[in-house]
Amino acid sequence: MSSRSSWAEPYKIKMVELLKMTTPQRRKKVIKEAGFNTFLLKSEDVYIDLLTDSGTSAMSDVQWAGMMRGDEAYAGSRNYYNLEKSVKDTYGYKYLVPTHQGRGAEHLISSILIKKGDIIPGNMYFTTTRLHQELAGGQFRDIIIDEAHDAESLHPFKGNVDLAKLESLINHHGAAKIPYVCIATTVNMAGGQPISMDNLRQVRELTSKHGIRIIHDMTRVAENAYFIQQREPGFKRKSIARIVREICDLTDGATMSAKKDALVNIGGFLALNEWEVFEEARNLVVVYEGLHTYGGLAGRDMEAMAIGIKESVDQNHIHARVGQVEYLGQRLIEAGIPIVQPIGSHGVFLDARRILPHIPQDQFPAQTLAAQLYIDAGIRAMERGVVSAGRDPITGENRFPKLELVRLTIPRRVYTQAHMDVIAESVMRVYNRRSKIKGMQMVYEPTYLRFFQARFEPI
Ligand code: F0G
Repeated sequence: MSSRSSWAEPYKIKMVELLKMTTPQRRKKVIKEAGFNTFLLKSEDVYIDLLTDSGTSAMSDVQWAGMMRGDEAYAGSRNYYNLEKSVKDTYGYKYLVPTHQGRGAEHLISSILIKKGDIIPGNMYFTTTRLHQELAGGQFRDIIIDEAHDAESLHPFKGNVDLAKLESLINHHGAAKIPYVCIATTVNMAGGQPISMDNLRQVRELTSKHGIRIIHDMTRVAENAYFIQQREPGFKRKSIARIVREICDLTDGATMSAKKDALVNIGGFLALNEWEVFEEARNLVVVYEGLHTYGGLAGRDMEAMAIGIKESVDQNHIHARVGQVEYLGQRLIEAGIPIVQPIGSHGVFLDARRILPHIPQDQFPAQTLAAQLYIDAGIRAMERGVVSAGRDPITGENRFPKLELVRLTIPRRVYTQAHMDVIAESVMRVYNRRSKIKGMQMVYEPTYLRFFQARFEPI
């Protein structure tokens, strides 16, 4: 383990991508044309892009070299076997089905394991994960601890499962109605909050007692491992790689969006320990993604992923990654800006409820704040509140989540400390004129995952 205490980057820059600067006049015009939805902006109109950490990371020279070694055979590509080895060595899961990205894996596992009327408990919902569970006929149930829904709670493991909630679901519905419990490491919608090893062990014990699987959403597992190492007694001297492995060993299978932790621009997989489930997934993948040795990916994409997985569990890498996010979060805390605390691993989440208390939730405070941030300095963030939560599929009513957030998501290895300062200063400027900001109404609402394409107008 390194003795370095600064989070300074363990890499230097070999190539740069030039950014376009825009004027406030242009930004006002284009955000209006985009229906005040940052997803509908053109990226060339963005200065600092904090929409997501998904597929936006910078690959290493080693990964780029791997891209040149793509074996683009339809079947049995060498890169598939490299990926399989990387997944087995790093995560320990026995069987691998590559998919084009995380939701491809979610689709497969949901279709295979969920029957109509089933209940899928999870430590908070994720948008695509829950939708695939619902499309397969299941119903999601939130079993995360209450602190996770409180932006101000300083609980060090807000991703933890409330075991009493899980137990009561099992008692009420019966284990036969629960095909698996979905456990996310680093809970995205809670603000990038980790689950502790101790809590995961207890979830394992309880589910094993009832013969229920744990399917692990391992999209940001290395970031979760970092928090365990830093915060949980007994882990200070364990490597990130070892902690990651320990987490995976407590679960039965995993869905992965490799576009996050694993440092690639596209790719994902479903990993399993049960042969029968794997056999079905390997068959189903040919219907929706591609042959089971490429799952919708080019050979070169699989090679970059195989390498990125190994880079993702390096101590210096993860220290710098989370350290940069913490730097930004600390600057905002010092300026008195309400954010979700503790600071998460993949981004800083602004608490729109407390920043814009005069805007009721049905006038989309977080959506409004994200649009204002863009207008101020060309910084693109994402709404994670009532728009993202969508409607209840049974009642059709809007779901009003307690957390109404704007996510400043930090891509890995992309921006500098000076960029973090620019972001902090822009948030402060918007914060200082917050009382003048007015809410919005939704004027177009798509059926699925509405936050991607919805349009708004100021009231
Ligand atoms: N699970 C989690 C926790 C995620 O954050 C994501 C994607 C997925 C699953 C789905 O993976 O995008 O590869 O299909 N999150 C992105 C985000 C979109 O911006 O948070 P995917």
